[in-house]
Amino acid sequence: MKIALLPGDGIGTEIVAQALRVLQVLDLPLETEQALVGGAAYDASGHPLPDATLRLAQAADAILFGAVGDWKYDELERALRPEQAILGLRKALGLFANFRPAICYAELTHASSLKPELVAGLDILIIRELTGDIYFGQPRGRRAAPDGAFVGAEEAFDTMRYTRPEIERIAHVAFNAARKRGGKLTSVDKANVLETFQFWKDIVTDVHAEYPDVKLDHMYVDNAAMQLVRAPKSFDVIVTGNMFGDILSDEAAMLTGSIGMLPSASLDAAGKGLYEPSHGSAPDIAGRDIANPLATILSAAMMLRYTLNQSAAADRIESAVRSVLAAGLRTADIWREGDKRVGTREMGDAVVAAITKKTITKS
Ligand code: IPM
Ligand code: MG
Repeated sequence: MKIALLPGDGIGTEIVAQALRVLQVLDLPLETEQALVGGAAYDASGHPLPDATLRLAQAADAILFGAVGDWKYDELERALRPEQAILGLRKALGLFANFRPAICYAELTHASSLKPELVAGLDILIIRELTGDIYFGQPRGRRAAPDGAFVGAEEAFDTMRYTRPEIERIAHVAFNAARKRGGKLTSVDKANVLETFQFWKDIVTDVHAEYPDVKLDHMYVDNAAMQLVRAPKSFDVIVTGNMFGDILSDEAAMLTGSIGMLPSASLDAAGKGLYEPSHGSAPDIAGRDIANPLATILSAAMMLRYTLNQSAAADRIESAVRSVLAAGLRTADIWREGDKRVGTREMGDAVVAAITKKTITKS
């Protein structure tokens, strides 16, 4: 099993290093190869997604990705910014189905900004379409004033666009996922205003005919944003487009207390995937050994389960994570009085120890 490791920028290198240690103690026939991506790749070679990195990702069975981005690249032209690396990988590899689970661990209920009773036991799944919508629609750009008095652009535009096959395939993924969970799917749209999302709603409704055992409802995105903080446990699986999914998945992540806990998977039609934490590169805390590596470690577990068919190994990682939380170990983002505060590396040590069954003690 070949895994491409793309740590990227900021805390990316620290958290991927811990996930790699965890993978290595599982005694699986894994081969890993690492490459630069994002700002780190731009600094080394002038492009955030160099050909060599793309080829490595294409040749691998799965990709473990850290995070990309730093404010220092804000002045670069868009095509050279670190974010283009992840967008380019998603598009080039056809990773159209993005799974973003939001699970509230019992030990972390207090870390949520919502009342504990609203989030205790929360377990929802956001499925975000990842290669279409306004993120990729053409045309896009800026236009000068028609009178030619050009002092910079007078107008900027992006195009929201979906094709029928794009919506059908993500709908099938979502209905299948809902079928394996609580049997309830909420399709989030803005059909009251946007043609693209009336089209989305119609197609999801059509596909539903093939999944009579799944309960489908439709919700406007503004209402969904509200319901997520009013009664998050009323959802099971949410399916939505690229833009709305970007926003709602950050919102859902925060319900669980820390975005530092949440993994994600981006899959192609054959189940090959890129796995990454739901959070970003956090350049403000990079290099200080304080970032929470658990989202990346849990992303490695998702990789084993979804792409590499090693669900027993995935279970071992997930139960090790639960046991370090139960032992009271916390990185800064989830720490509070009475917990044992640990750094990035120590958290990795603890997960490795739990997997290899050494005891973890709360000191
Ligand atoms: C995400 C991120 C990316 C996105 C950025 C880094 C391009 O916010 O994965 O949610 O907008 O998709
Ligand atoms: Mg985002």
